[in-house]
Formats: sequence, structure tokens, C-alpha cells
Amino acid sequence: MVKLFIPKERRAGETRVAATPESVKHFVEDGLEVIVEAGAGLRSSFSDLDYSGAGAAIATDRTDTLGRADLVLVVNPPEASEVAALRTDAVVIGFLAPYDNLEAARSLAEGNVTSLAMELVPRISRAQSMDALSSQASIAGYKAVLLAATRLGKYFPLMMTAAGTIKPARVVVMGAGVAGLQAIATAKRLGAIVEVSDIRPVVKEQVESLGGKFIELPLEESGEGKGGYAKEMTPEFLAKQREIVKKRLTVADVAITTALIPGRPAPKLIGKDMVEGMPAGSVIVDLAVAQGGNCELSKADEEVVHNDVLILGPSNLPASSMPRDSSVLFARNLRALVKLLVKEGKLEIDMEDEVVAGSLLTHQGKVINERTASLLEGSSS
Ligand code: NAI
Repeated sequence: MVKLFIPKERRAGETRVAATPESVKHFVEDGLEVIVEAGAGLRSSFSDLDYSGAGAAIATDRTDTLGRADLVLVVNPPEASEVAALRTDAVVIGFLAPYDNLEAARSLAEGNVTSLAMELVPRISRAQSMDALSSQASIAGYKAVLLAATRLGKYFPLMMTAAGTIKPARVVVMGAGVAGLQAIATAKRLGAIVEVSDIRPVVKEQVESLGGKFIELPLEESGEGKGGYAKEMTPEFLAKQREIVKKRLTVADVAITTALIPGRPAPKLIGKDMVEGMPAGSVIVDLAVAQGGNCELSKADEEVVHNDVLILGPSNLPASSMPRDSSVLFARNLRALVKLLVKEGKLEIDMEDEVVAGSLLTHQGKVINERTASLLEGSSS
């Protein structure tokens, strides 16, 4: 019987958990033995009783349970000391920061642990139910708008009151990927006028179907790169884009920025001059802050006020503001991936399966992901 362990997350600010009573119930139905560390779900509002009711055993000795587990589900990469406690044939799955936390990849490989990173799950139709980047980005986009709405000193919707009419808020969304599209939908539901800038032309239709207005850019070639993601644009193009967006920002109440380019720092889309051109009292929420930020003035997890414009840089909104549903969705993403690994009561790494092979970070003592392996090589030379 596969022994599955869900440890309590230890990282500061992390409120999520890698399994919920719902996913535990399914694992038990699938024939797994589930062990949850005491208190693992408390910050996501799940009690030990909820887990034991779903069929899990509750463990108090973390190190001992790590040493007995076949499969460990995590939100964040394990520490080297935790990897050392694992069996050499154990499998770990979670957000493992394959390009940022090279030490974790190194220790997992050295410990001969098989690990699958949720960041590496291929974005193909068959793997949509496992797409944790999307489930969490969508939460970030939703919450960014709510955050802006609560900090803005005016209404989002058009209000017709006995004391006269209030105009709707104007929101500019930069980057219409998963987080940006959810931000557009949320701002529209609240009644705002939404304008959107992106460099992938394919996004225009998606923006318009949500009721947003697409800001046209002088694109000589599409900004779409590999795998449906954006590519890095030239400084000349970015300067032109800033000029065009600057005009839209002079009449905006809110800017939500979500623009990213895989493996590169976030593009700087809102310069200091653009912030200074925004109306007093407006709010910027920079969701790209962990990758360096889309706004020149944003700071991770700090509030900056410049020229009476509030700039927020929340680095992990799913964890900091919506742990329960972030955990529910992340746990479902994990369960869908685990289903590919457990066959007839046994854990099996099927290298022929493109989702499993694509998600592998370490296996049989090696770092499998090529980019992580080359980053590690670069860091040690
Ligand atoms: P992301 O987080 O890497 O980037 C966010 C957005 O920033 C992208 O829309 C990108 O075009 C935009 N951006 C980059 N540079 C910009 C600039 N200078 N100005 C304005 N915007 C800029 O992207 P995310 O959210 O991870 O998704 C990207 C795309 O991947 C999706 O729109 C979708 O087409 C595809 N996707 C496919 C999935 C599937 O098939 N299962 C699942 C999720 C996403």
C-alpha cells in the first residue's frame, strides 16, 4: 500500500497545505494510506479531525513519518534536512521552484529522491486538471482586484444615487495571461471600465469576450514565443508601449500588472514618470513583484506611496489572502498528477507519459530537468 504523507508547511507566510479532507478522501478511496502531520491544515481552516474523518492518520513525529513515506506532497520545496530524512526511493511532489531554488534540486538529486515539480507540468489539454500555476494565478488575479477595490477611495461601479451619479472606476490590466484574465473578469463584475495591454495578439479576443478593451500596440511581430508564452521585446518596443499605456494611465484609477516572460525578469511597464502621471489616490497592484516587478517603484510585500499613488506588491496572494480555496485547488491539481503515478497500488514513474516525464525534476540521483541542470552547472563552475 502506498504510504502518502502530507507534512505541515514550515515556510514563513505559507498558509496553504498540499492535501485537503476532500483530496484525502479520494486518496483513501484509491487505496492509499494517508498520514497528515498534526496541524497541517490549520492555517487553511482544516482541522486534524477533518482529516481523520476523511480517513487519514494524524502523525506528530515529522521526521519519523518522512522516513516511512513512499510519497510526500508539499506546497514548498523541502529543506535539505528533510530530504535527508526521506527514503531513497521516495517521491516528492509540489511547487519545487526548479529555476530559483537550485539547492533544493541538488539535495533531492543527491538524496536519490524522485521529485516532480508542479511548475514543470506541461501546459497541454490532458494536464489542465494538474495545472497548479493556473489555479494559483487565477486566485492572484481575483484577489489583486479586490485588494485594489478596498484601497481605492472611490466606487468601482457606476452609481446613480439621490446625491447624483458617480462614474465607474477605470482599471488598466497589463498582461492578460491566467492572472490578468481573472483580474479583467473580476473588475468587470465589480462594474469597472477595463482596458488591457498584452503583446500576444491572440489575447485580444479573450479580453474582448470578458468585456475588456484591448489597447492596440504597434507590433511589428507577434510577442508570442514558445509554448504560448510571451517573448522578450526590444527596449525600443517597450518604450513605445510605455508611451501608449502612459496616456491610458493618466485617466486610470487602478492598474493591475501581471506581465511575465518565462525565465527572464518581468518587463518594466510602468515607469516612475507614469506613476507620477496617474490621478491622486489611484492604486497599482504589481503581481509580477517576485520576478522583479512590472512597476519601477513596487517593492515585494511592501506598500509604497509615490505622489499620492499607492503601489502594492503582494508576492504570494494565494497564500497570504485565500489559503482555503488555494489549498482546495492545489490539492486537486496534486491528486490529478498522483493518479498518473499510482498503478495497481504501486508507485510507478512512467517515462513514456509526457506529463510525468515533463514534470520530473530529479530521478535516480540525477537532475532531469535540463534547464535546472544547466543552471546548477553554471552555479557550481
Ligand atoms: P505568464 O504568467 O507567463 O504571463 C502573463 C502575461 O504577460 C502573458 O499573457 C504575456 O503575454 C504577458 N506579457 C509579457 N510581456 C508583456 C508586455 N510587455 N506587455 C504586456 N503583457 C506582457 O502567462 P500565463 O498566465 O502563465 O499564461 C500564458 C498563456 O499560456 C495563456 O494565456 C494561455 O494561452 C497559455 N496557457 C495554456 C494552458 C493549457 O493549455 N493548459 C494553461 C494555462 C495557460
